[in-house]
Amino acid sequence: MKNIIQPLLYVLLLSVLSFLARAESVDELLADMERIQQDPAALRAAIQQGEYRGTLCFSCHGKDGNSTRDYIPNLASQNPTYLFTQFEHFASGERKNYVMSKLATQLTDSDRVAVALYFAGRAVKPRQQPVVPSAEGKALFDSMCFACHGASAHGSREYPRIAGQPYEYLEATLLKFRDKNPDRAKSPMIGVVQNLTEQQLKDVAAYLAHMR
Ligand code: HEC
Ligand code: HEC
Repeated sequence: MKNIIQPLLYVLLLSVLSFLARAESVDELLADMERIQQDPAALRAAIQQGEYRGTLCFSCHGKDGNSTRDYIPNLASQNPTYLFTQFEHFASGERKNYVMSKLATQLTDSDRVAVALYFAGRAVKPRQQPVVPSAEGKALFDSMCFACHGASAHGSREYPRIAGQPYEYLEATLLKFRDKNPDRAKSPMIGVVQNLTEQQLKDVAAYLAHMR
């Protein structure tokens, strides 16, 4: 009898372990995130976990999510779903950046949710921008960009916040989209900016950089 039960128990133990180790899918994790956001105590705990696990992000993105260099995006006040899904894109190779692509595979599921919630809860601070906003930039924003990113460019659950990002990051990112740079190959923005000139992209970047 013993000879039969032991292997059976072993198989049972293995299947329990593999169930526990199984990574949750992106959709399941986003559903977890939503549940946490609706539970104040769980949200406080996640933000605390995110502040702790996010330490390795602070040197570039700032402890308060306001980036320390102009080529690095702010994470403060960003839509947490966007933060989380971009991390998945870095991990899968759909979006590429030397540092981020490496980091994206280092955090556990629960840490990635926590870090997104931590940064999303910080406030964007005004920063020194190297350009002044132009009327042309405003006109372009009001004719196209507001439709998805919102009238104040604060984004939503589906779209990223783009207000107040560093000018350098905005300009470089818009040119990447226009030039179909493989670093962000599948972005829906590629279609949006295809027919815009470099000057138009600079104008709208300057306008966005000064939006609050
Ligand atoms: C050495 C600097 C550096 C570190 C450390 C770093 N990042 Fe980044 N991060 C960047 C740069 C640069 C980009 C912009 C990449 C690009 O141009 O596509 C970026 C982009 C991102 C984006 C996309 C934001 C957007 O607006 O599209 C997210 C999300 C992000 N980082 C999260 C994190 C998190 C979370 C950590 C810590 C675990 C972290 N980063 C650590 C440099 C860094
Ligand atoms: C049809 C909807 C739509 C319109 C219109 C649109 N965007 Fe976007 N935008 C998006 C989506 C979706 C993303 C996230 C892209 C991704 O995942 O790569 C995005 C991302 C961006 C980003 C990158 C954000 C980051 O943190 O890296 C910038 C900058 C941007 N948009 C600027 C603009 C500007 C400027 C306009 C107007 C000329 C515009 N968008 C119009 C949907 C739109």
